[in-house]
Amino acid sequence: MTATSAPNSAATGAVSTSQVGIAILGYGTVGSQVLRLMHENADAFFHRIGAEVAVRGVAVSNVEKHKGSLADELGLLTDDARALIARSDVDLVVEVIGGIDYPRELVLDALRGGKSVVTANKALVAAHSEELAKAAEESGVDLYFEAAVAAAIPVVGPLRRSLAGDQVQSVAGIVNGTTNFILDAMDSTGASYDDMLAEATRLGYAEADPTADVEGHDAASKAAILASLAFHTRVTADDVFCEGITKITADDIEAAKSAGYTIKLLAICERLKDAEGNEFVSARVHPTLVPREHPLASVSKSFNAVFVEAEAAGRLMFYGNGAGGNPTASAVLGDIVGAARNKVTGGRAPGESTYANLPIASFGDVPTRYHIDLEIEDRVGVLAELAKTFAEHGVSLRTLRQEEKNGGARLIVVTHTATERELAQTVEVIAKADYVKHVNSVIRLVSE
Ligand code: HSE
Repeated sequence: MTATSAPNSAATGAVSTSQVGIAILGYGTVGSQVLRLMHENADAFFHRIGAEVAVRGVAVSNVEKHKGSLADELGLLTDDARALIARSDVDLVVEVIGGIDYPRELVLDALRGGKSVVTANKALVAAHSEELAKAAEESGVDLYFEAAVAAAIPVVGPLRRSLAGDQVQSVAGIVNGTTNFILDAMDSTGASYDDMLAEATRLGYAEADPTADVEGHDAASKAAILASLAFHTRVTADDVFCEGITKITADDIEAAKSAGYTIKLLAICERLKDAEGNEFVSARVHPTLVPREHPLASVSKSFNAVFVEAEAAGRLMFYGNGAGGNPTASAVLGDIVGAARNKVTGGRAPGESTYANLPIASFGDVPTRYHIDLEIEDRVGVLAELAKTFAEHGVSLRTLRQEEKNGGARLIVVTHTATERELAQTVEVIAKADYVKHVNSVIRLVSE
């Protein structure tokens, strides 16, 4: 049974009479929208691909759970993913299950069986891109993963194709909708992290287990994929420094606001040079203070935005819906059209390009800036001592703001750029100083 139907090819002028058979693995928020849109837009798919696209089946873990759904009405549901993939009339496998181990096995089965794969699975691609790309290459099939990063926003394709002749220097931005929703809501209402996480859950942005979002793991997987594509160097999720938003308080947001900043969870991928001019790559995810006039500061709600800076292209910005069933389905469908066209015309997607093999920076070597909020005793010589500690670690101060608090002083220090190691060591020493009552927060800033 097919979920799509071809228009009369004589009437459309299309010449192909072949079919591209598709297996969909997973029927959650994304999979159900993929099937619905393919079903509703079958004619457009036929014209764009030059062949009929026929969904052969939708694999789920529990068929009963999906009774009454479109996939059920079309007679497509099966709980045997492996048998579906192995069908001789399946040419293309769409993986929208999530997780790593089980989808990895299925995707490898498909690729090794000579079927192209479209996946939305950032964790899988970030952890196993080498193995998956090799399997695709050996079988002469395609691996597409536009939906793995920032859902509907085309950013994988531009890096894989449009910018393939340029030298990308950096890719940075907001690539997690849930955390952007929480931070934006904290900023606009003054509410606590816990309250806004509950709100994100109530509105369906955050998963029942929001750990991957709020701890930054989801953004780290996306950063690994973006860095690999941008710098032609394999970067895995394990190579990405990752700090989430769970420790950000309403006070941090308020302090940032009064200093002219907002706090965003940024993924930052950079091509850097050491003192000898040797190139290396850094990829990191952490809460970051962004000046309120910076374009990223105005990215609100669950929207994503990605900045790319390339030698010849200059600065590019990609903005839009980075999460949700329909936006993710849009990217999956684009990849389905690409892979199906290749099947019809004999073309191929670009393979993995990791020839540059640049070293990945140790996080301590990465240049950054700190915003330090601390409470100190208000007595003679304290500021001089503090300034001396910064100087001893080679860290230059940019601004220093002091106000009275609880009989002592609250000090907000903003540094110039230094290495992460120099800054972290400075804070370690200061936190132990006898004149320091409490370090309220240490948050990194966007680069100068
Ligand atoms: N949970 C992600 C987000 C979407 O909130 O952006 C899928 O990666």
